[in-house]
Amino acid sequence: MILFKLNIEIRQMKNLDIIRQDYKISKADREKLLQQKPVLLWLTGLSGSGKSTIADRVEQVLHEEGYKTYLLDGDNIRHGLNNNIDFSESGRKENIRRIGEVAKLFLDAGIIVISAFISPFREDREAVRRLLKEGEFIEIHVDCPLEICEQRDVKGLYAKARRGEIANFTGISSPFEIPTHPEITVHTDQEKLDESVNKILSYTYNCIKPLKG
Ligand code: ADX
Repeated sequence: MILFKLNIEIRQMKNLDIIRQDYKISKADREKLLQQKPVLLWLTGLSGSGKSTIADRVEQVLHEEGYKTYLLDGDNIRHGLNNNIDFSESGRKENIRRIGEVAKLFLDAGIIVISAFISPFREDREAVRRLLKEGEFIEIHVDCPLEICEQRDVKGLYAKARRGEIANFTGISSPFEIPTHPEITVHTDQEKLDESVNKILSYTYNCIKPLKG
C-alpha cells in the first residue's frame, strides 16, 4: 500500500501522467496572421533605474506603428498573478520563472513583449533566455548607478530600505548581478530618454521586421 502511494506521488511530481497536446494552429500561423516576428525585450536594472519609463515609451512607439505589443511590469504583476511571492532569493526566482513562462505564451501568441523587472539574478535571466528560441530574448541592461537611483527615489522605497523598514531591498540589502553580455545597454544617468529608447528600437526593428505574404 505504501509503495503504491509512493509510486502515485512520484508520477505526480514528475508529471508523468500529463501528456502534451498538439493543436493545429501553430506559432508560425499566428505570426503570419499578425505580420510580425515576436521578441521579448527584457529590461533589467535597479529599482528607479528607468525600466518602466523606457518600456512605456518603447511600447508606445511600436504600438503607434501598428505592432502588436504587451508590457509586463514588475509592480503590476506583483499585484495580481504574483501577489503571493516575496522578495527573498527564492521568491524572486519564482517571480522571474513565472514571468518567463507568461512571456513565452505571449510570444507563442505572436505578440512582442516588453518586460520591466529588476530580475537581479543572472541565472534567472539566463533561464528565461533558454526558454525561448535563439534571438527571441533581448536582454537590455538599464544601467544607472545606485546613488542616482537612490537620489531619484521616486517611490520613497530606498529611504524606507535605509531605515530598515524593507528587507532584502535590491542594491541595499540584496544584490544585483550586472548582465555580462546584454544585447543592449542603456545608461539612464547619461542619456536622454529618447536616446535610450532609440537605441532599443533600432536593435528591435532588425528582429521584428514585418513578414511578407
Ligand atoms: S524582482 O527582483 O523580483 O525582479 P520586481 O521587478 O518583480 O522585482 O519588483 C520590483 C518592484 O517592487 C520595485 O520596483 C519596487 O517598487 C518594489 N519592491 C518592494 N520591495 C522590494 C524589495 N525588497 N526589493 C526590490 N524592490 C522592491
